[in-house]
Amino acid sequence: MNAPVSKKLFIRTYGCQMNVYDSERMTEALTGAGYESVDTPDDADLVLLNTCHIREKAAEKVYSELGRMRKLAESKAERGETMRVGVTGCVAQAEGEEIVRRQPLVDLVVGPQAYHRLPAMLDALDAGKGAQVLTDFPAEDKFAALPQRTMRASPSAFLSVQEGCDKFCAFCVVPYTRGAEFSRPVAQVMAEARRLASSGVREVTLLGQNVNAYHGEGEGGTWSLARLAREIATIEGIDRIRYTTSHPNDMDDDLIAAHAEVEELMPYLHLPVQSGSDRMLKAMNRKHTAEGYLRLIERIRATRPDMAMSGDFIVGFPGETDADFEETLALVDAVGYAHAFSFKYSPRPGTPASTAEQVPEPVKETRLATLNDRLRVHQVRFQESCIGRTMPVLFEKTGREDGQLTGRSPYLQPVHVLAPESALRQILPVRIDAVFPNSLSGTLVDATF
Ligand code: SAH
Ligand code: SF4
Ligand code: F3S
Repeated sequence: MNAPVSKKLFIRTYGCQMNVYDSERMTEALTGAGYESVDTPDDADLVLLNTCHIREKAAEKVYSELGRMRKLAESKAERGETMRVGVTGCVAQAEGEEIVRRQPLVDLVVGPQAYHRLPAMLDALDAGKGAQVLTDFPAEDKFAALPQRTMRASPSAFLSVQEGCDKFCAFCVVPYTRGAEFSRPVAQVMAEARRLASSGVREVTLLGQNVNAYHGEGEGGTWSLARLAREIATIEGIDRIRYTTSHPNDMDDDLIAAHAEVEELMPYLHLPVQSGSDRMLKAMNRKHTAEGYLRLIERIRATRPDMAMSGDFIVGFPGETDADFEETLALVDAVGYAHAFSFKYSPRPGTPASTAEQVPEPVKETRLATLNDRLRVHQVRFQESCIGRTMPVLFEKTGREDGQLTGRSPYLQPVHVLAPESALRQILPVRIDAVFPNSLSGTLVDATF
């Protein structure tokens, strides 16, 4: 039984999809503790910032937001109201107590492995115990301790199946903020997927920092991601399966084969490479080469010729020369990404590369602009290749214009279509008539719908 609703909760989410998933689960946990979600911090009793530590800018945003929250809390205090503020997620994990020292407004600091303890921490605050900081990796299973998933508005849902990372790329904080690699047991994942399906979900995106390293305990031993995806595909109502983020070294033959056999697996793969230079890949401790990555993509495309590729890139990693950067551009051309993210290297405290001699900022800026131009050429090319094609679209929400719905193509592109609201949650064929840099528009093929 849920406690009676009395308090208002506002969560601001930064960073990756795992944080989006965690925010949903925190909302569910706090709903059970008497909170309801609101859309702005203005009338919230509890504000949580679910933070990201991946780049300096991401982490600094948290402190400027806390500054704004302080002003809001002060103006509320003048009206005799109180507002609690908590920091969750990867900055919480990385900085712990330091957050309370830097911004004494903060009542709660909770790492990503401990947020199931939030209701108990709020009780401790109510009991006057002072700021609560929890950045341990508790022994109990967070997922088992959380309440079950509740009804959902969207037909598309995230489902975390794996957390943490043992790879220790020289630039990355994730192994420190999310801890060692851990896979949820198959039965637990299946129960959550079934529950999502019965609440109207048609597309699940399996999440993990290294999701294709999944190795959960299941019937008969350890299951791979391929086996898990095959099992999820048998659930009535789940018609689309995606997974992110994958590491090239964990892309095994079985997973590649599944893309040919499992109709539900969508032909879109986010497979970060970071650099096209073997010298840089070695310095980054990526443990793969550019050539190995290209060969892997050839194998994937031999299995699933329409696979659209997405990637992540870092420019200006310590020691990167113009020649290294040229190799990244060459790799971009060789792959022809449908979509990609690119970042300037940001030194992160505690990671091996942070103390090396840094590439000057203007060089990073120029390389980022050049890389983005090149990525854009390929993205436009991919978008244009969609004109005239008919593709299944999962309708997710009403669009910006009257009578319009927005859905997703198999390749994750938003698609705008004039369609009745009865098409929401349906997967219907759409002929693509026009393309934009980041979206498509089209016409329902079955006009009688
Ligand atoms: N687990 C995923 C991605 C983790 S972080 C993977 O292994 O691919 C998402 C992206 O942020 C990374 O792929 C990388 O491109 C970028 N990134 C991580 N640390 C960074 C840093 N210190 N500076 C700039 N970009 C970084
Ligand atoms: Fe970070 Fe590398 Fe692990 Fe990805 S594989 S989370 S980039 S350490
Ligand atoms: Fe950021 Fe943590 Fe995700 S550092 S990218 S929120 S795993």
